[in-house]
Amino acid sequence: MNEDIRVGVFVCDCGSNIAGFVNVPEVVEYSKGLKNVVFAYEGKWSCSVDALASMQESIKEHNLNRVVIASCTPRTHEPVFKKTVKEAGLNPYLLEFVSIREQVSWVHMKEPEAATEKAKDLVKMGVAKAILLEEGEEIRLPVGTDCMIIGGGMAGMTAALNIAEQGFKAYIVEKQPQLGGILNRVSNVSHNHINMPAAEIVKAKTDLVKANPNITVYTSTDIESVDGYIGNYKFVLNTNGETVNLDISTVIVATGMREIEPEGMFQYGNDPRVITQLQLEGLIKVWNAECGIGKSEIQNPKSKIQIQNVVIINCVGSKNEERGCCSIGCPISVKNALAIKKINEDINVHILYRDLSMVKDEQIHLQAAKAAGIKFVRFPGDRYPEVTKEDGRLSVDVYDLLLGSEYKLPSDLLVLTVGFTGDETIDAIRGHLKVSTNKEGFFQERHIKLGPLDFPSDGVALCGCAKNPKTLKETQEEGIGAAMRASIPMKNGYIEAEGIVADIDLTNCNNCGICYKRCPYGAIKVDENEEPSVIKALCKGCGLCAADCPKECITIVHYSDEQLLAQVEAALEENPEKKILGFVCHWCALGGVDMAGVSRLQYPPNARLIRVMCSARVPIKLIERAFELGAAGVLVVGCEFPTCHYITGNYACETRIKRARRKLAKKGYNTDNLWLAWCSAADGPKFANTMRDMVKQLGIG
Ligand code: FES
Repeated sequence: MNEDIRVGVFVCDCGSNIAGFVNVPEVVEYSKGLKNVVFAYEGKWSCSVDALASMQESIKEHNLNRVVIASCTPRTHEPVFKKTVKEAGLNPYLLEFVSIREQVSWVHMKEPEAATEKAKDLVKMGVAKAILLEEGEEIRLPVGTDCMIIGGGMAGMTAALNIAEQGFKAYIVEKQPQLGGILNRVSNVSHNHINMPAAEIVKAKTDLVKANPNITVYTSTDIESVDGYIGNYKFVLNTNGETVNLDISTVIVATGMREIEPEGMFQYGNDPRVITQLQLEGLIKVWNAECGIGKSEIQNPKSKIQIQNVVIINCVGSKNEERGCCSIGCPISVKNALAIKKINEDINVHILYRDLSMVKDEQIHLQAAKAAGIKFVRFPGDRYPEVTKEDGRLSVDVYDLLLGSEYKLPSDLLVLTVGFTGDETIDAIRGHLKVSTNKEGFFQERHIKLGPLDFPSDGVALCGCAKNPKTLKETQEEGIGAAMRASIPMKNGYIEAEGIVADIDLTNCNNCGICYKRCPYGAIKVDENEEPSVIKALCKGCGLCAADCPKECITIVHYSDEQLLAQVEAALEENPEKKILGFVCHWCALGGVDMAGVSRLQYPPNARLIRVMCSARVPIKLIERAFELGAAGVLVVGCEFPTCHYITGNYACETRIKRARRKLAKKGYNTDNLWLAWCSAADGPKFANTMRDMVKQLGIG
């Protein structure tokens, strides 16, 4: 025992949330017997103001230099306890957090004895790690007052105005020759009782932007390169053939979206009468300019056919297994149907839909559409309408789910309400800024609930349709929100980055280059001697480099190999043959674990979970060690593709697990006992099912 290490363990009852199912006094007594523990305490509500003050007193009174909190999930309460120990004079990196509510009491409610044993194990693992913890420190970086807004649509312009009105400099870079984004292609915008031509809205906003001396606009401009990090970005732009270099402190991504071309669907691309909603918006603009109201005759300029029958099919290529509801298709279809009826009330308009998603504000348009004689036909999700052509005439066969009969609808104009995806620049921007995108082709926010306008990279905010399709109102609200997010470090003049970063010891380094080639953030640079070093301001602490370094030269502060190994060994000290050793990433996977807890999903108590920042942090040697110690199984859980919070971490993990299986097989281990799972933060049932399936397969129930 290292006499200098004095660990205090604080076990929380959380009222009856923990104490109702775990024998907390027994856990406290057990803690007192653990190596280096000099103080253990049961608290009723450990996060209450009084309890936090009393914790600070205990730290001072017992001269504690390591603290283990056994309570709820670190995802919500770790910052509170970090602040508390810091105020008590202890470096916050000397705190270890153990979750015995979401991982124990709420998911093993019917097995109090097993729950208590698991809680003891988790505390033991926490203490084992705490003993090895070292002081860390936040990294403070200066941040200036120049913000780059990528995209000059409504989100970008709104963000720029809000940045500029605070006295900061805003730069808008737009690839098109004019500002306005996708709204330039829209005829009119309806919200509640207000119906305005989109062009008027764009003009009003553009005038404000152009009149603001703090905003510089670069249209017809591409981004050639971006280097650096918050407070220190170097942008190289190509504007009309000229190169512009800019030093930038923060970035807002507002690149917008585009329709997904429904190539080959419903005769789209083969017949000029079949168009998308955005193409219809263009026609409505022309008709509005050329025609009157009420009885005007209209033509599709491409088909040259007089339009008497319009059929709109919703949910084309969206709300299926590949992509979710586009969230704006239904109101757009109703808005445009009404626009056609306004031009000529005698035109027959049918909207064919699966589910009509119209929020409260949009009900007014739905009522107006019905009053105008627009017909709504609901078709089943497994029986989409079919387009037929006879004697050159186009018609749509649809099964009406509500009336239970089939109809043939003539169609001079067939409008497809298609889904959306991110702008075509999305891949380039992702590469420039080292940020993530999702499988629907939009940018991925840091956290859907806790960081909806942020990226994992500090100083880069996200807004508008670059994230997902949304209404003009929502787009502008997000533009304001993103401006606020980017303004905080500019207002403070600095940012403090988490001290969980990589550290390289070059003693055994053979300059193989794996670390800098694989770092998702470009946070490792090599000098002229090929020697790597970490740019701490860029490092996010995912641990991919440390897990892949063949010479084990890299340590991650707070998640070192030694600390993780101590947890593995503590977890498997007793009855390893009954245990599953799990590694869960702090973001989605731990979110899924927590969600199982919040939902009180009951699953077998065999798992002992170790938190890592990313699934990429798990080195093969720890998996091997767990099997050497007799673990029944090992489970690694990370974020679903492509939502890893460290861009490519889960891909690296997947590749490494394949290598681990080959290695384990050579050593004679059953590779079926090594499981890899991907889980979203909302998917508590998936995690609980994985536990049940694994316990069943391993035969340890
Ligand atoms: Fe979850 Fe990378 S953060 S797998």
